[in-house]
Amino acid sequence: MARKKVTVVGAGNVGATTAHRLADKELCDVVLVDIVEGMPQGKALDLAQSGPVEGYDCKLVGTNGYRETANSDVVVITSGIARKPGMSRDDLLNTNAGIVGSVTEEIVKQSPNCIIIVVSNPLDAMTQVAFKKSGFPKNRVVGMAGVLDSARMRTFLAEALNVSVENVTAFVLGGHGDTMVPLPRYSTCAGIPVTELLPKEVVDQIVTRTANGGAEIVSLLKTGSAYYAPSAAAVEMVETILKDKKKILPCAAYLEGEYGINGLYVGVPVKLGATGIEEIIQINLTTEERAALQKSAGAVQELVDMLGV
Ligand code: NAI
Ligand code: 2OP
Repeated sequence: MARKKVTVVGAGNVGATTAHRLADKELCDVVLVDIVEGMPQGKALDLAQSGPVEGYDCKLVGTNGYRETANSDVVVITSGIARKPGMSRDDLLNTNAGIVGSVTEEIVKQSPNCIIIVVSNPLDAMTQVAFKKSGFPKNRVVGMAGVLDSARMRTFLAEALNVSVENVTAFVLGGHGDTMVPLPRYSTCAGIPVTELLPKEVVDQIVTRTANGGAEIVSLLKTGSAYYAPSAAAVEMVETILKDKKKILPCAAYLEGEYGINGLYVGVPVKLGATGIEEIIQINLTTEERAALQKSAGAVQELVDMLGV
């Protein structure tokens, strides 16, 4: 059986760590693409030379072009810039939209049947850019954020409950920003809703900490944003697709009426499998939860409108 092939565009912190995790799990061959000359080649060679010690036989290739990416099964887009002093949010939005748009055009030429997972920020708007540029059906373009945001919430809940993180599930809906909607009602410990196990003040604190989870890491790191948990989340999505596991995961998906949202990428529970997004799961929300999701979708819509995509 031929090995699966995954391209990771952007060989920075998230991209390189994603390649590392894919190889460690021996999931596929990996092509690492970046515009910085020599850097993706160097990181791919270094990762390849870890193979004999770690015991993986993946082929790892670094490149500044796209020829080597041909016929990838999955492409993870992590390329972009982070906000720098003096730059407005709009500057970041437009710059990253240009990067994600041009990368998508190249990817599509080489791998017309791939599934694209977008990681670059602002996540929901960048996924919409990739969707529009690719011309792919909506099931083959998906955004990574909910798996990360819910992993953060699971970590905080497990700590508060003093239980294994493996016992805890958590659900976060909405756009990947401070308007995201963590849902304690649908978060459980061994099947028991956490709202039955923890006092409301503790749950409320965890909800707020989850929504600010990215900013908390940035304020500690000072020179960049999180990449260990983001790459773990991206790899869970890649693995689910490559192995057709049909896991239900919170991902940015293109909604056409679901949850009362139309023509927009927003984080919702989806079934991920070999064909990408196989189903959007609709769950009942309270009036308050629905309003919070609408508010979050409104924030994504504003960005999408600025870009005109
Ligand atoms: P980084 O700065 O370490 O890496 C970005 C890489 O993209 C750099 O190596 C850069 O040279 C490359 N790049 C820029 N333009 C390119 C182009 N046209 N083609 C190919 N490569 C190009 O940043 P990091 O930490 O890896 O983050 C990457 C992106 O992911 C950022 O936009 C960040 O905000 C986002 N992110 C999103 C998360 C999510 O939950 N969706 C979580 C963590 C990060
Ligand atoms: C995060 O949530 C920066 O979006 C990134 O860590």
